[in-house]
Amino acid sequence: MANPFRLDGRVVIVTGASRGIGKGTAIAVSESGGSVVLVARSADDLAAVAASLPGPSRVVVGAVEDPEVPARAVAAAAELGDIWGLVNNAGISPAYSPTVDTTDEQWDEILRVNLRAAAAFARAAIPAMIAAGKGGRVVNLSSIAAFAGLPNLVAYNATKAGLDAMTRTMAVEYGRQGVCVNSIAPGTITTEMVQQLMDTNPVLAEKFVAKTAIGRVGTVDETAWPIVFLLSDAAGFMTGQVMLIDGGRLAAA
Ligand SMILES: NC(=O)c1ccc[n+]([C@@H]2O[C@H](COP(=O)([O-])OP(=O)(O)OC[C@H]3O[C@@H](n4cnc5c(N)ncnc54)[C@H](OP(=O)(O)O)[C@@H]3O)[C@@H](O)[C@H]2O)c1
Repeated sequence: MANPFRLDGRVVIVTGASRGIGKGTAIAVSESGGSVVLVARSADDLAAVAASLPGPSRVVVGAVEDPEVPARAVAAAAELGDIWGLVNNAGISPAYSPTVDTTDEQWDEILRVNLRAAAAFARAAIPAMIAAGKGGRVVNLSSIAAFAGLPNLVAYNATKAGLDAMTRTMAVEYGRQGVCVNSIAPGTITTEMVQQLMDTNPVLAEKFVAKTAIGRVGTVDETAWPIVFLLSDAAGFMTGQVMLIDGGRLAAA
């Protein structure tokens, strides 16, 4: 039997692939034999990621909330083969303010990027997966913020809980056509920005670590490879789920 964790010949769109978890996911997909469409706004960073991949890729430069970008990504995927996967990873997490001070403009900004754009990418990609007749996979990047009331992040927390609701809805709607939809909910993951924060602010670093069962924060690889698992045949009977990658943070009382 072929290794069910491999993605040979599978074409996957990864949004927010210029750095952080998205970049790590693009690399892990490519190392698993898949082809990748990399989406983000930073053209130079995307080109560098594409150049580092062992397998085929296409770059789509644009903002995920731009209504033309999902269709451009699906067209780029078609150049590589039948589309198999979509990883809705692009996200922003501005710490605005307490709930009563968070403005409509701030709500609109984060809803557009974190939630509406993910829906638009799914709207563009799922019909193409179904048309190809082999099923497919959607992975939405949620967060422990969907479960915990992280202060000053009311809009971010709500978008991540909303993504999980979207995951369950799409799983039920498209399961019969072989499309499995799941969320990954990371705790604190040391992307470049988080690492920099921790290096310059030991108190904050200790706070990040304190509540985890494992006693440390997570790495990009520790998030990217579970995403590859969800994209693979190994996860073929798994849909509508939220997979926590948080070092046991929510398991702690
Ligand atoms: N790191 C963590 O600890 C953590 C924890 C829980 C959940 N998450 C979630 O995981 C995802 C990735 O997080 P990360 O830490 O890897 O973030 P990151 O390092 O800040 O990277 C964000 C990525 O999204 C892209 N992006 C942001 N806004 C965009 C837009 N409007 N249009 C297109 N691309 C956009 C960025 O590229 P450009 O700037 O080039 O466009 C970049 O590639 C997010 O959804 C985040 O909420 C992260």
